Amino acid sequence: MTQFKTLDDLPADLTGKVALVRVDLNLPMDGGSASDVTRVEAARPTILELADKGAKVLLLAHFGRPKGKRHSTMSTSMVQGDVEEVLDREIMFVPEVSGPVVEQSIGILGDGDIGLLDNVRFWPGEEANDGEFAKAIAAHGDVYVNDAFSAAHRAHASTEGLAHLLPAYAGRAMEAELKALDAALGNPETPVAAVVGGAKVSSKLDVLTNLVGKVQHLIIGGGMANTFLAARGVDVGKSLCEHDLTDTANKIMDQADHAGCTIHLPYDVVVAKEFAANPSSLRTCNVHEVGADEMILDIGPQAVEALADVLKTCRTLVWNGPLGAFETAPFDEATVALAKTAAALTQDGSLVSVAGGGDTVAALAHAGVKDDFTFVSTAGGAFLEWMEGKDLPGVAALS
Ligand code: 3PG
Repeated sequence: MTQFKTLDDLPADLTGKVALVRVDLNLPMDGGSASDVTRVEAARPTILELADKGAKVLLLAHFGRPKGKRHSTMSTSMVQGDVEEVLDREIMFVPEVSGPVVEQSIGILGDGDIGLLDNVRFWPGEEANDGEFAKAIAAHGDVYVNDAFSAAHRAHASTEGLAHLLPAYAGRAMEAELKALDAALGNPETPVAAVVGGAKVSSKLDVLTNLVGKVQHLIIGGGMANTFLAARGVDVGKSLCEHDLTDTANKIMDQADHAGCTIHLPYDVVVAKEFAANPSSLRTCNVHEVGADEMILDIGPQAVEALADVLKTCRTLVWNGPLGAFETAPFDEATVALAKTAAALTQDGSLVSVAGGGDTVAALAHAGVKDDFTFVSTAGGAFLEWMEGKDLPGVAALS
């Protein structure tokens, strides 16, 4: 695991110091405020710990993809109210990330006060990871803290460059995330199972290739499973299926065989003639009985039971992606049932369960078990890149 400094390595008293803290405030919005503040809640302990140590805390974040230009709708001031609510403190909005305005703002902030810098992506130097741009920001800080794992797959000035210019520390959320991920794939207790779902094999090729070499059981669900079933000669009717990737699917199955990884595909499935909630054509059948005019929309109850038995033999689980079209009933049933099994095993102490990715978090919340997993990552793209076995620049720079 990457060795990094944490807030424990900072002096107890930071009075008179300025802490530049990279957080992820890329929040989903609903009208004028955030519809989900999980990322702010995750960063809260770090921000308050630094403020309580007496530091002036300057929050640094991106919001959307403004591509190096100011956009009024993408100012971090849009989420100032949400951040204040989660922190239960007033914060000062600073409409720059460097220069005299930032310097004056630091002069106004008292010890332990918090400032919110504007969207760091308003400047092209951010995504270019420009050294001069990073230096201009670093000039305002005494320490750099990165608490934005979900942005760590970006080699940008605020996620990577700054770590080379100031004493760099992982925040509490980053620390927890890295420990959980290490327990899941870096240094896990075996056997390890991975659940990988989602629509397309093409978007998760690198994930699958990396996992077959690392886990003992690979459970494939969602539309991706159809491509693997087709590769095994199953007629999947009009199911979502990447027929051009059946060779790739066969290659992954061969790699799994050589690595001693068992790939689990469903042997019963839930099908319908149209994709709608509770369609009249709904039925459950063996994978070999899917009609030419039917599509697979979830895995079946026997498969779920078999998968639950697999999880009972495992010590570690990594989960990314739903098993069926879970947003539409009743195609959420397999995901909900297996998530509940994983949660119960976790609560019994027999399984370490780590999940991540936008859809996955929504699926676990829908199943009512989000808080019963060992760790649920707030990251989307960064979680996937980690599952692909890639080094994340924002994490590497902390070491
Ligand atoms: C996210 O929302 O996943 C992160 O904040 C990264 O955002 P990005 O994909 O725009 O870099």
